[in-house]
Amino acid sequence: MASESLGSSVLLLAALVALVSAGSDAPRGVAVGFVFDPKAKCDPPCEHGGVCIRNNTCFCSRGYEGESCQYANCYPKCKNGGVCLRPGKCRCPSGFGGKYCHKVTCDGGCWNGGECIAVNGVAKCNCPSSWTGSKCQEATCPQGCRNGGVCVAPGICSCSEGWLGGACHTAVCTQPCLNGGKCISPNKCRCRPPFSGPHCKERKKLH
Ligand SMILES: *[C@@H]1O[C@H](CO)[C@@H](O)[C@H](O)[C@H]1NC(C)=O
Repeated sequence: MASESLGSSVLLLAALVALVSAGSDAPRGVAVGFVFDPKAKCDPPCEHGGVCIRNNTCFCSRGYEGESCQYANCYPKCKNGGVCLRPGKCRCPSGFGGKYCHKVTCDGGCWNGGECIAVNGVAKCNCPSSWTGSKCQEATCPQGCRNGGVCVAPGICSCSEGWLGGACHTAVCTQPCLNGGKCISPNKCRCRPPFSGPHCKERKKLH
């Protein structure tokens, strides 16, 4: 009985020595030179291939650490709040990417020459001056697009029907306003007295 348990402990010890030499640079639950107890019980049990070498002392396999070898470790460490999922594999918070979460990433990227940068730990697109929006997807029109016009490219408005001009500020009257009348909104003339009517054609009777 005693020799049988001694035999199994020698076998286990040989396995541990193999582990120690395989993972020479890996951090581990205990230092080399431990007292080994083949009857040791570990509660909670050693995870991820760790070996229980003394009561409640796990010898962790390479890439794991913690009391019961429950934590994976990542080298280099996961940056920017990334979590080590398994050895060498980080799960990155949104806004960060790369193997160690060391790269800033903007969801969907930055368009139109925008650059993804970190501002107070949050990824943001830094847009060129003529573009705006979270992805630099919106053009800016410094002149403004009036009367329902939409800015479609830097400085270029797409005007709604009946309007023209760089800022959609010029109304269009399909029939011209006569006698000095002015087109003030689509197909609407403001007439000069004494003229009136849709196109300022009629002369008002003065009493
Ligand atoms: C380990 O724990 C068991 C029971 O939990 C106990 O019987 C044994 O004596 C302990 N061994 C050592 C070395 O403390």
